[in-house]
Amino acid sequence: MPETLVIPVDPLHPDPARVAQAAAVIRAGELVAFPTETVYGLGANALDEAAVERIFAAKERPAADPLIVHIAAPEELEQIVAEVPYAAWRLAERFWPGPLTLVLPKGTAIPAAVCAGGKTVAVRMPAHAIPLALIRAAGVPVAAPSANRFSRPSPTTAQHVLDDLAGRVEIILDGGPTPIGVQSTVLDLTADPPTVLRPGGLSLEALRAVLPTVTVTRRYLALDTVEGAASPGMLLKHYSPRAPLYLYSGPPEAITAALRNEALRRAAEGERAGVLIFDEDEARLAGAAAAISLLGPRGDLDQAAARLFAALRELDARGVDAILACDVEPAGAGLAIHDRLLRAAEGKVVLVG
Ligand code: TXA
Ligand code: MG
Repeated sequence: MPETLVIPVDPLHPDPARVAQAAAVIRAGELVAFPTETVYGLGANALDEAAVERIFAAKERPAADPLIVHIAAPEELEQIVAEVPYAAWRLAERFWPGPLTLVLPKGTAIPAAVCAGGKTVAVRMPAHAIPLALIRAAGVPVAAPSANRFSRPSPTTAQHVLDDLAGRVEIILDGGPTPIGVQSTVLDLTADPPTVLRPGGLSLEALRAVLPTVTVTRRYLALDTVEGAASPGMLLKHYSPRAPLYLYSGPPEAITAALRNEALRRAAEGERAGVLIFDEDEARLAGAAAAISLLGPRGDLDQAAARLFAALRELDARGVDAILACDVEPAGAGLAIHDRLLRAAEGKVVLVG
């Protein structure tokens, strides 16, 4: 494969000539990374099995982990799935384009590799002008997981994609940082009651306003059981920085006191801790010899979500020996943040206060 080409594209008004160049690459069975409103995706023609297999190879993703098919209009659902239940139309009408992925019975047009050989397929219509223009110009649905190496934090900038996939993807469309910053909410409509397999950019509260019976899966599986996972979003080891991450849970003052002690203890042993905290906590960590990464003000969880993965990558880049992160209330936008931190911690939770 030639060098990866990074093409700047206006996220609101994508230049048709640049989109056409990327669409030709998709039609040729090769890979294009692009921004969405959630994170960057690594896309291929969803109808071309060989192209889809390239995604798995580039990411070093296990073949048992199925992909999301991206479409440019709700009506295109009918080409992807075997049947569209009434609930799917209602949800699409309310939340598409947007950060909601629906799991439905698979149609015959989609090759088995997309769905990891299963009977269902995940579909979403992204709320971002670049992938919508790309899908329309290519004239095919686009299968795309997040554009990171397997188990690394998802990419929220073109640079993150390049860091993980340089030389493994033909084109990266650089539309700047992605606004939401955590992946879409994955809702399984083949389950009864409908079940959120991965909390994400669309809150549970918003979903329940349309479909009150929606429930959330709480089952987290170990990495080596990937074959049996209902959704690898359920894998505990996921979205991990290189440094081990410890998640601190409790009242904010107790957390900052514990983070400070732990950072100083590690410093005394010649280690450097990274801390992931809110703006309000920064003053209390002064002099603790830690690398500090800020999530924004405590009251703005949308901003925290937008910063989360970049902050984990930044602390890794600073070479810290461990990351000490403060937990958030698992409600509203906080549910997806809590979920990603818990997975990054691989279960290493410290209760304080
Ligand atoms: O926001 C997003 O969803 C981003 C952007 C690029 O659209 N994509 C993304 O894809 O996060 P990926 O592959 O990293 O995550 C897809 C999630 C995984 O947890 C996968 O297991 C689940 O969706 N999934 C895909 N197909 C499924 C299926 N048929 N049944 C259950 N879960 C499925
Ligand atoms: Mg992913």
